[in-house]
Amino acid sequence: MAVAGAPRRQAKFAPISGKRGRAVAHTAVLHQIARLQSLPLVDAFGRSIDYLRISITDRCNLRCVYCMPADDPAPSSWAPLLSYRQLVTVVRAAATLGFTHFRITGGEPLSRPGVADFVREIAGIPGVEDISLSTNGVALGQLVPPASGGATGEDSGTGVTLAAKLAQAGLRRVNISLDSLRPDRFRAITRLGRLEDVWQGIEAALAAGLHPVKLNMVVLRGLNDDEVADMARLTVTRPLDVRFIELMPFGPNYKEEPRRFVSGAEVKRRLREAGLDLAPELDAPGAPAAAGAGPARYYRIPGARGRIGFITAMSEHFCGGCNRLRLSAAGKLYPCLGDIGAVDLRPALERGDDVAAIADLFRQAVAAKPERHHLQEYQQRDFSWREMFRVGG
Ligand code: 5AD
Ligand code: SF4
Repeated sequence: MAVAGAPRRQAKFAPISGKRGRAVAHTAVLHQIARLQSLPLVDAFGRSIDYLRISITDRCNLRCVYCMPADDPAPSSWAPLLSYRQLVTVVRAAATLGFTHFRITGGEPLSRPGVADFVREIAGIPGVEDISLSTNGVALGQLVPPASGGATGEDSGTGVTLAAKLAQAGLRRVNISLDSLRPDRFRAITRLGRLEDVWQGIEAALAAGLHPVKLNMVVLRGLNDDEVADMARLTVTRPLDVRFIELMPFGPNYKEEPRRFVSGAEVKRRLREAGLDLAPELDAPGAPAAAGAGPARYYRIPGARGRIGFITAMSEHFCGGCNRLRLSAAGKLYPCLGDIGAVDLRPALERGDDVAAIADLFRQAVAAKPERHHLQEYQQRDFSWREMFRVGG
């Protein structure tokens, strides 16, 4: 947060000599060191790591077929969540190491009360430049009290939309899962969801000025793959990015993956067969297309307001450009989604708000980042242990 006060022009322009001059020079060196220290961490493969995905809960109000088991996981398997205070300490530590982008995810992050207050708090931490959210969208359109009402202040029934409240708190952009445009199918895939709630959430996100609003569709053969052209056409008239995500073989349903998997290349072919022209978006740094640059490759139907993205984690991994770590709801820092190794932050967090100790654990996690994931070899291995709702989708 900006600190109010008189502009400090003197230190910059007036030459100062003597003892005070040496003190000023000393301070300048300290600032320089601090700046150097906040350069992004670089891993063993030369990748700068400056993006942290934070799962704030492993619970969810939906049960998507590719993510969760049909029945509730045993209550004993739910993670004891890190407190918001502990999460703030983690963000502070990451920010001192040059992390600038933080994504709040889950499970369903909005199923945990107090998210807007958490966003406001971390938005004030020096170094935090970009806060985004991954959500199923169900709660974004719900009305909540506009001002912070304490930890459970999001439960009341009047006021602004939750999307607006989050935007006011400092959230910039949002990714919303949307696997079907047909209410019956949407219900079948999410097992519990109502499409109209998510549409309300999408409209609320747009109205709140969150930008970009990205819609994520996990393409599933036989369940929603005939809707890819309809999804892509949404980008023509609405300022929405639609991203087609390859199914990954995770969680209790990983054995379903071979018969449900649809590659990004196949989706692209099907869009072209449906008569949609896809022009690649320029990805120059700083170009609008690069906003939120990440694993997606972007295209645009000429003249369309939004973009079409492909996330091909399985068919064409993008590990070479990976810039992220993931914090699970239970407090484990994962260097890679496709690797079992993790650094547990909880013991250090339970000892207190020691930012330097957490920063050291971040360095360990970055040093342990593997060059790439090996999910393609899953047929020889069992990936049921990797559950997106626990590690953060
Ligand atoms: N494969 C691909 N994406 C997944 N997600 C969850 N499980 C999987 C999976 N098995 C992603 C989806 C969803 C987000 C919460 O996590 O993109 O939108
Ligand atoms: Fe919930 Fe997202 Fe998993 Fe669906 S994919 S069950 S919305 S965490």
